[in-house]
Amino acid sequence: MTDWKDVGALADVPLLGARKVRTATGCVALFRGADDRVFALDDRCPHRGGPLSEGIVHDGRVTCPLHNWVIDLTSGKATGADVGATRTHAVEVVDGRLMLDFSALSARKAG
Ligand code: FES
Repeated sequence: MTDWKDVGALADVPLLGARKVRTATGCVALFRGADDRVFALDDRCPHRGGPLSEGIVHDGRVTCPLHNWVIDLTSGKATGADVGATRTHAVEVVDGRLMLDFSALSARKAG
């Protein structure tokens, strides 16, 4: 079940940039691609937890600022070898507002 919450305006996220959203269970990085598509991933690189929100966005991917791993923004997977993935979250733009699915982010988890 989805749990949509308004986390700000699309205009608050720079083109080819990111914005960090704090949640009860950690930070989520919202990314905005050149085509205005938005992506939401845990703000933790699958390598050693680097802040992906501070990485470079390019071609639907982000390069981690710590050791340059490249993470696919759709799948959260590190490209190249089978080396892990960052959790992704659903995000939509509705009337210029960013709606993030908090169903996996609340402090209390079902089941
Ligand atoms: S922590 Fe991201 S590449 Fe090492």
